[in-house]
Amino acid sequence: MSTLRHFLDFQQLEGTALRDILDRATAYKNGAKAPSLAGKTLALVFEKPSTRTRISFEVGMQAMDGKTVNLTQGDSQLGRGETIADTARVLSRYVDVIMLRTSEEKNLLEMAEHATVPVINGLTDASHPCQLMADVMTFEEHRGPIGKKRIAWCGDGNNVASTWIQASARFGFELRLACPPSRQPAQALLDWAAKAGGQISAFDDPLTAVADADCIVTDTWFSMGQSNGDGTRQLLGPYQVNDAVMQAAKKDAIFMHCLPAHRGEEVTASVIDGPQSVVWDEAENRLHAQKGILSWCLT
Ligand code: CP
Repeated sequence: MSTLRHFLDFQQLEGTALRDILDRATAYKNGAKAPSLAGKTLALVFEKPSTRTRISFEVGMQAMDGKTVNLTQGDSQLGRGETIADTARVLSRYVDVIMLRTSEEKNLLEMAEHATVPVINGLTDASHPCQLMADVMTFEEHRGPIGKKRIAWCGDGNNVASTWIQASARFGFELRLACPPSRQPAQALLDWAAKAGGQISAFDDPLTAVADADCIVTDTWFSMGQSNGDGTRQLLGPYQVNDAVMQAAKKDAIFMHCLPAHRGEEVTASVIDGPQSVVWDEAENRLHAQKGILSWCLT
């Protein structure tokens, strides 16, 4: 069995490991010196675009005295049919850790299976665990320990929503979902979370879902590569986070969004640019969380 510390998704990671990573991230943000990664190199492999994930890993690695190399599908042999398995074997001879952003989860699992260095999930269509580390960190900065708190998700039941579901089980908070019936997260994931201790419930009406919530979260209606061909705007319109939705939550509820945001679609400008929004802290915390993840994988 591999002893490598892969960071793949919350279903494969114990709550204690996730808490360890968060403690590291918070300590680094508060001024503790992160371990040196001098002599170490991180390969960043992007099959999809990125701003936050790419820059936070690059800056985080630099701050820890390590180096990064970037690879995209277009400028590597991945775009010409070289397998993920072969890419994993080759990269492992050059670098000390690999981050992969890809569409299909099976690509990530194939990378982890064949790499001989740790692999980090930089987003798949199924999950976005690096994002959730920053999200939980941000919540706790603003509202204290997340355990037993009530979080409400409004919108598409996408990869970020799925990772919130996993996080509910790992961190012990209540998650209330308001997603259209045709865009619900996978039942198998909900079943896993329920067995693993997650307290998750689904609502048709966003105003009911957010009642007494400590935090409201949403994400873009159009994940990378999706278009409005299936009437997504009409489908998700009733799940927009607007002033009425924020007012139905706790008075001091915070608003989070992993970004990029589309004002007037999943969230109004009045909410994301308003006093309850913590999205810029959330974006900053991607950097501290990446340092926590790198330090956990490598030291
Ligand atoms: N939230 C997020 O992952 O942002 P990027 O797509 O810019 O990396």
